[in-house]
Formats: sequence, C-alpha cells, structure tokens
Amino acid sequence: MKLIYRILSVTAAAVTAAVMITSNAFAAEHRGDCNNDKAVNSKDLLTLSSFILNEGDMCEGCGDFNGDGVVNVYDVVIYRRYLAHTLSIVPSGTWIGRDFDGTRFFSFKDGYGHYVNAETGDSMGFDFTAEDNELEFTLGTAGTTAAADIIWKNDLFFDFEWRDTGCEHLTFLCEDDIELNEPLTGFYVTGGDYSVRYFDIKGYTGSYRARFDENDKGNYCYYFRGNNIVFIDEKNYAKKAAFTRIDRDHFDLVWENGKTEHFTRREVTVKDGITYINGILIVNKTYALPSNYGPGGLTPETQAAFNEMQAAAASEGLSLKVCSGFRSYDYQATLYNSYVARDGKAKADTFSARPGHSEHQTGLAADINMASDAFLNTPEAAWLAENCWKYGFIIRYPKGKEDKTGYKYEPWHVRYLGKENAKLVYESGLCLEEYLSIASSYS
Ligand code: DAL
Ligand code: ZN
Repeated sequence: MKLIYRILSVTAAAVTAAVMITSNAFAAEHRGDCNNDKAVNSKDLLTLSSFILNEGDMCEGCGDFNGDGVVNVYDVVIYRRYLAHTLSIVPSGTWIGRDFDGTRFFSFKDGYGHYVNAETGDSMGFDFTAEDNELEFTLGTAGTTAAADIIWKNDLFFDFEWRDTGCEHLTFLCEDDIELNEPLTGFYVTGGDYSVRYFDIKGYTGSYRARFDENDKGNYCYYFRGNNIVFIDEKNYAKKAAFTRIDRDHFDLVWENGKTEHFTRREVTVKDGITYINGILIVNKTYALPSNYGPGGLTPETQAAFNEMQAAAASEGLSLKVCSGFRSYDYQATLYNSYVARDGKAKADTFSARPGHSEHQTGLAADINMASDAFLNTPEAAWLAENCWKYGFIIRYPKGKEDKTGYKYEPWHVRYLGKENAKLVYESGLCLEEYLSIASSYS
C-alpha cells in the first residue's frame, strides 16, 4: 500500500494541469490494466506508481493515459480520477477515519458495522443503508441516526461529509474486521535493534520518540491482526510486527525487516522526592529517599504479609524472623560508614547501601534470620526463595544479577511488592531493575 500514498502525495500539484484531460484516454485499448490481471482497479494504480518510482515493471505502453508519450504523475492523476468514477458506492472492510472526531476505525459489512474511537477504545455498532453515495446510519441500541455523503477519491480513500457537521477522511485498512484485543495503554520504554525509544500509548493510538535520534518520532494508531500488530502512521503508512505478549508489563515485537524490540511498561512518578515506577516505590543506587523519610517500622502491610509468610513457614517446621527491618537514614549512615571504615568504600558499596539509598528506610524490606552468607545453607533460605512471592515478597538482590542490582547476592533480603507484582517479578526470572528496565548506579 505504501507506494500509492507516496505517489498520491506528489500528485496534488499536478491536479490543475491534468483537469483538461478527459478519461477518454482509457478507450478500448485496456490501457488501465497495468498489471495485466484483466481487471482495472487500484492495484493497477500501484503498479503504475511503482513503475514511475523505478520500483517495478509494467507492460509496455500501459500507463500513458494522456497519450503524451511519457508515463509520469500526470497519468496517475488521470487514473485516480477515472477510478473515482468507477467505484462501488458501498464501502466494506475496515477503514480508518481521521480529522473529524479524533481517529476512528470503521468496519462495514452488508449493511452492518461498528466504529471504534481509537483513543478511548469506545465502540458502537450500527446498521447502515446506502443509496447514491449517501449513507444513513442507525447507531447502537439507542437507535439514533446519522447520515453522511460519500465522496470517493479512489477505492482506497473516501471522505464522509457528515450531514451538517464536517468532513472525515477515510482510508482503507483491510478487507475484514480488525482485531483490537486489549489495548496496550501505558508508557513504555524499549530496548533492542532501535536502541531506546519511548512509546506513550493511549487506547489504540499513541506517539513515540527515540532517545538518541530526535528525528525518530511520530504519532500512530494500531490494531491487532492475528499474531501481528499493525501500526499506521499519520501518512497512513502501515508497518507490521509480530507481537508476543510476555506478561502484564512486557511484550516483544519483531518488525518485518527482522529487527526486534522489547517493550517494558514504565510509568515514573515522583512525589515528595520519592520515585514510584508502575506504582512501586523504588530505592536503589540510582533512586534515593529524602533523609527525613521513614515509617519508623515495617509498614502495616509489610508486617501483615510477613506474619502470613512466617505462619506458613512454621506449618512446615521452619522458623522465620526479621533480624533487620526498618532502618532510619541516620542508622543506615552509621552502618554504612562502619563498613567503609572496615572494608573501604568500593567493597562496602557492593553490600551496603549509602544513606538514603537503602530499601530498609522504606519499611518495605526485611532481612530474614541472619544477614550473612551462612543463611544460604539453611532450609529457611531455600523455602524463602521458593515461596516468598506467594506472600508478596521478592528476593531483592538475586544471584547472578549483581551488575543489575548493584549488590552482591543477598538471599536473606526480601522486599514487599504486594502479591500481584511479586508474582509477576518472580515468574519473569528478572530482578526488579530488569523487570522495570531501570538502572542502579551512583551518579
Ligand atoms: N544490604 C542492602 C543493600 C542495604 O544496605 O540496604
Ligand atoms: Zn537487607
């Protein structure tokens, strides 16, 4: 579909020059059948456009509609006018409507259809009747009516002139009804072959920008098609990618050119100097807490979740105790400085947080039984690793993730996330930094 849009956009200036020429140029010789398929339709316009762009072949002499001895954009203009007069008067399939009421998808089939507001995802069914390029709609269960004249541009574009309200530009998307599925609404960061890009998705529309290339940005809408997602940009160029949902916050795309992109939902809010990502309070080497922040103990939710976990472990004959829960900024400062004095700063930074950077200051973290490597050899450590997610906790500094978390493996340090988030993080096999696609390093 691409070529047609490209060529049509350059023909606008040529329209005036071409109006003098009539469509008689199509006379008996079948010069309209540019692709030699015995039909005259917009596919021929594509063939003609490709030929002019040096991107494809065409049968000898086929495209010279104005008979001036050259095949060029003037022939495209005439052909487009010709097609506009030979179209079916009833649209079918799915179309995208723009510039009237935001972006809308319309599906038509045999007198029935529905439209979807791409921004909100709201949809409504309708019946329609068509006569002389005029459509009468009966909308939804309320049965309100609306009417529009259709002004065909060619069989891939038409305008709805809504009665007394305005003009909507419709562009053909596909023969069938499109799938919308669950919209991807949210703010996403990507990694992969296109480096870092930010996608702000609202319903079935959105915008994106690249972090390192200020020209790589745009607005789009999208829909699902089987295992694919189809993005339509503002010029109606369609780009398709294979879509794989990983979990609530992640999906992968493989674009048609083979490039891959991994999407992570990441919504950052900062309130009173505290950073929340997807609603999760974040403290690590990158994100700090204000020095005066502190609930003074484990938060009530964290304490209740620990009690539940403790009881479950006890029923299996295991004993869990909090050996270090809430730590104030000042207490963490004392602790950290003592490690620096003992081991040096570089070493201390691998296992102790600088003041303001410790999760213990949130009241959402706890060290279980003993903050020492000896814990690893206990049955409680194995039980904790396997079961803590069920009670809303994660092992915050897992083995093998030292370069992501910024800390050595701490099998005893659990962080309360709530049951839904803890389950997602546990099942992902990622540490929290990877799950949210965030860094942990001192600036
Ligand atoms: N041991 C962890 C990293 C802390 O000091 O908070
Ligand atoms: Zn800890």
